Amino acid sequence: MLKIGIVTISDRASAGIYEDKSGKEIEKFLKENIENEFEIIYKLIPDEFEEIVNTLEELIKQKCSLILTTGGTGPALRDVTPEATKKVIEKELSGFGELMRMHSLKYTPTAILSRATAGVVKNSFILNLPGSPKAIKENLEAVWPAIPYTIDLIGGDYIKSKNAFRPKKN
Ligand code: MTE
Repeated sequence: MLKIGIVTISDRASAGIYEDKSGKEIEKFLKENIENEFEIIYKLIPDEFEEIVNTLEELIKQKCSLILTTGGTGPALRDVTPEATKKVIEKELSGFGELMRMHSLKYTPTAILSRATAGVVKNSFILNLPGSPKAIKENLEAVWPAIPYTIDLIGGDYIKSKNAFRPKKN
């Protein structure tokens, strides 16, 4: 069955200071957009480089076709999600971050502060999202159409979604 990792990266949410609303927003988006069955593996961790790397590697080992992170993409001292992601991926797909930032400018001028990236490793596709709950849909709606086909190309599990774009074979 299709496996999807959701990784919330936040010092405060992982310490129980506030609830992880962004992880729930990701789950909601996936339920609204994926028509086949899938299993979610959920992680809530602090903004610690090694812990992010280890968590991503564990989810790759567990054969998650899609891994979505939220948080830690900005310029603050503790924000290291893109660096940890780059350590793990084999190929960077920088277009995902570029499109998310361009699209997000419609919602907020601070979209420019997110350094979110994406990339592939083995049969897994990893995408960073900013940490704010409202940023989840604002970013995913921009790039979602390309995600199922990206996962096809790396031999991951099939994602059935009416909003997916798959180029027609000649
Ligand atoms: N993009 C969208 N669509 N909506 C948002 O609210 N917040 C921005 C930016 N991108 C935001 C967004 C802000 S304020 C920051 S600091 C950066 O994402 C990084 O957020 P992060 O450090 O929580 O990942």
